[in-house]
Amino acid sequence: MSTVYLNGQFMPIEQAKVSVLDRGFLFGDGVYEVIPAYGNHLLRLNEHLRRLQNSLDAVRINNPLSQQQWTEILQTLLAKNEGQDQSVYLQVSRGAAPVRDHAFAADLVATVFVMANPMKAVSREKLEPGVSAITLDDIRWKACNIKATALLANVLLRQQAAIEGAAEAILIRDGRATEGAASNVFIVQDGVIVTPPTSPMLLPGITRDLILELAHQNDMPCAERDISEADLRAASEIWLTSSTKEILPVISLDEQPVGNGRYGPIWGSMIDIYQAYKAKLRAGEIQ
Ligand SMILES: Cc1ncc(COP(=O)(O)O)c(C=O)c1O
Repeated sequence: MSTVYLNGQFMPIEQAKVSVLDRGFLFGDGVYEVIPAYGNHLLRLNEHLRRLQNSLDAVRINNPLSQQQWTEILQTLLAKNEGQDQSVYLQVSRGAAPVRDHAFAADLVATVFVMANPMKAVSREKLEPGVSAITLDDIRWKACNIKATALLANVLLRQQAAIEGAAEAILIRDGRATEGAASNVFIVQDGVIVTPPTSPMLLPGITRDLILELAHQNDMPCAERDISEADLRAASEIWLTSSTKEILPVISLDEQPVGNGRYGPIWGSMIDIYQAYKAKLRAGEIQ
């Protein structure tokens, strides 16, 4: 039985209960983060907590905990749960109001929920076969930079991909690829690693930023620029990135092969760099 954190207390998951009037339940009125931990070392904790603060600010919820309190809760939860590698899910909802009303009072007490889940080890070998993806119209709102728990559009888009036997949907808005339903998108174009610039149309992924940083450090040409639908279809490589998926090569898009239909050489270099980064984190050599 896993141990979770709810509003100040650690408890078995079965005992964790929230009000049916919680606005997280009624409206999806909350924000969240997913942070992987390798051997109990949280990946890019400061960056995750910074993004959490940005999401909270954007939806006008006061951060109920300090950076130190967050860190202590996450570390304690990792220690209380089993698994070499775990991913921590944390959620802050606006809390319960006495009546259901779209508008909210400023003094509601936020609900804080955190759980840790075992994470399957991701390796180069496991990722090499790649996945297929489809393109879908990006039907989401224009504040996709907020990591909001209201994910109905993402849920339906991802489900459509699953129905069509694909691992992910790559979303197209105004003729440009924004991101995946639950991932960021990269392409390789003329040897350059390209990902769209951050904007309200996509989540500023922690993995995305880390890959850009690693590319710079390793003198791999990369750029943040718009990816047209035509660029996407002509790309020699397409990758999907997220904290738990890491860097997934897409080998077919809308049933057409990407490049030669196998993972590409630039993905091969980047995944080795990424795995080396993880190994250093696990060994406590980097923060
Ligand atoms: C819509 C969306 N974009 C991008 C990402 C990748 O973000 P990160 O690298 O921080 O996991 C996610 C992660 O779940 C996501 O849901």
